[in-house]
Amino acid sequence: MGEQVNRVDLKHVFEFYRAMGIEEFPYDAGSVVTEKNQAKQKKSSAGKAQKASALEKLFHEELEGCTGCKLSAKRTNIVFGEGNPSARLMFIGEAPGREEDKQGRPFVGDAGKLLTSLIEKMGLTREDVFIANIVKCRPEMNRDPEEDEISACLPFLKKQIGIIRPEVIMALGRVSAQTLLETDVQISKLRGRFASFEGIPLMPTFHPAYLLRNRKDKALTWQDALQVLELLGMKAP
Ligand code: URA
Repeated sequence: MGEQVNRVDLKHVFEFYRAMGIEEFPYDAGSVVTEKNQAKQKKSSAGKAQKASALEKLFHEELEGCTGCKLSAKRTNIVFGEGNPSARLMFIGEAPGREEDKQGRPFVGDAGKLLTSLIEKMGLTREDVFIANIVKCRPEMNRDPEEDEISACLPFLKKQIGIIRPEVIMALGRVSAQTLLETDVQISKLRGRFASFEGIPLMPTFHPAYLLRNRKDKALTWQDALQVLELLGMKAP
């Protein structure tokens, strides 16, 4: 009975459109959805390409060859950051280490392996997210970046965030969280609670290098990651 009513309704709909001069109809609802999705996809890949070229321009025109602070003297490579220019989620660490300086890529050493496994546990890949640091050149002996180095480099990170406009930021460790939130509250007090960076929800969490030394706190970082997934409307696999 219900099906009959639907057919009658549909007949009227078709007659109405025909009367309006519309003769062709997509042959099933699936094709409508597909066309809509295709248009959406085209738009989002255009946006992604624009963001990719804006990031490239930022690197080549403003950062390449930078001598804005003393870290430039000893670096091998500037570690700009990498990942999806349209990432919904951005991870921000502190500064490149030895391996990152060598390769010019963020989080590729031991701490990086732990970060990669966190990302994968969240059901994502490194290519889905964007990974960057507060400073883009390695401080010697992996010391903390100093204030003058942070203030010289922070404008580049702000521009990256402005281009990518992620929906959520995860700040990895004390230096990242304190710098972005302009606070000196300890990371153990900041972590686990959303804050905001220029209107973007920011979740401070422990740095993967800290977690390598304090494995029991990995569970806390996982709690933080679950909150981030929830905000993104995603579930861990
Ligand atoms: N630690 C960081 O904070 N960033 C890196 O890229 C690597 C290690």
